[in-house]
Amino acid sequence: MSFENKIALVTGGSSGIGFGIARHLLDEGAKVVVTGRDIAKLDKAVQALGPNASGLVVDFTKKTDIDALYQTIRRDAGRLDLVVANAGAGTILPLGEITEQQVDQTLGANVKGVIFTVQGALPLMPSGGAIVIIGSTASMNPPAGMSVYGASKAAVRALVRAWIQEIRGSGVRINVVSPGPVRTEGLDNFFPPEQADAAFASLAEQSMVGRIGVPQDIAHTVAFLASDAAAYINGVELFVDGGASQI
Ligand SMILES: NC(=O)c1ccc[n+]([C@@H]2O[C@H](COP(=O)([O-])OP(=O)(O)OC[C@H]3O[C@@H](n4cnc5c(N)ncnc54)[C@H](OP(=O)(O)O)[C@@H]3O)[C@@H](O)[C@H]2O)c1
Repeated sequence: MSFENKIALVTGGSSGIGFGIARHLLDEGAKVVVTGRDIAKLDKAVQALGPNASGLVVDFTKKTDIDALYQTIRRDAGRLDLVVANAGAGTILPLGEITEQQVDQTLGANVKGVIFTVQGALPLMPSGGAIVIIGSTASMNPPAGMSVYGASKAAVRALVRAWIQEIRGSGVRINVVSPGPVRTEGLDNFFPPEQADAAFASLAEQSMVGRIGVPQDIAHTVAFLASDAAAYINGVELFVDGGASQI
């Protein structure tokens, strides 16, 4: 799957799933802009990704940051062929303990951030462009304690179903890839350190393929949906979870 001469943006590409996606797109010939909030982590990631990668610090809860990102991309590259809206996060808090800060942060990054990522990208995207948004199986099956996170990921599905109608005729497709558990820094942060190993073992057991995901699983799916091989696939939410959400 060649992405030669393509320019890609991978938000949250400084870590975890986003880093894996960026690495795969680079391996397939794309030039890739990755983002993160922590500049030291971002610099390290860009160095590891090599000369066809560049990095920009963006907080996706802030529209001014997203506007500045696209101004820079417009100035430096002039266009975007692929956009992977991956930056996002969540925390576990059951009803009764949900805080305003958790709601603002989760919906800010996972909903508001995705809205302005897509809206800002479209004027830079030629026909044939593709947008892939990273959702989560929590959009359908949120475990207890993950209601706010699950709602933020379910919102993405609704947004995309309206958006594909609104951009009809543009030649740009939008799809959602919803991973099951993938071991990353982000997932590690969901669990108290002393419970992490047991939690990962239990998650692996829920999968029909006997393991949890790795970033490459998601990267290969994103690359397919972003490629011309998926030219007739638009508006879907594709679950990549070893079958766990299908039973
Ligand atoms: N890992 C899983 O099991 C799993 C499962 C389903 C869905 N997902 C989704 O996959 C995506 C990536 O998760 P991950 O596990 O790879 O997490 P991760 O390792 O923590 O990486 C998250 C990336 O997003 C950035 N980020 C987070 N919040 C941000 C914000 N408000 N503004 C800008 N950048 C932000 C981080 O930058 P900094 O580190 O600099 O903050 C980092 O680059 C998320 O959307 C997550 O919901 C993950």
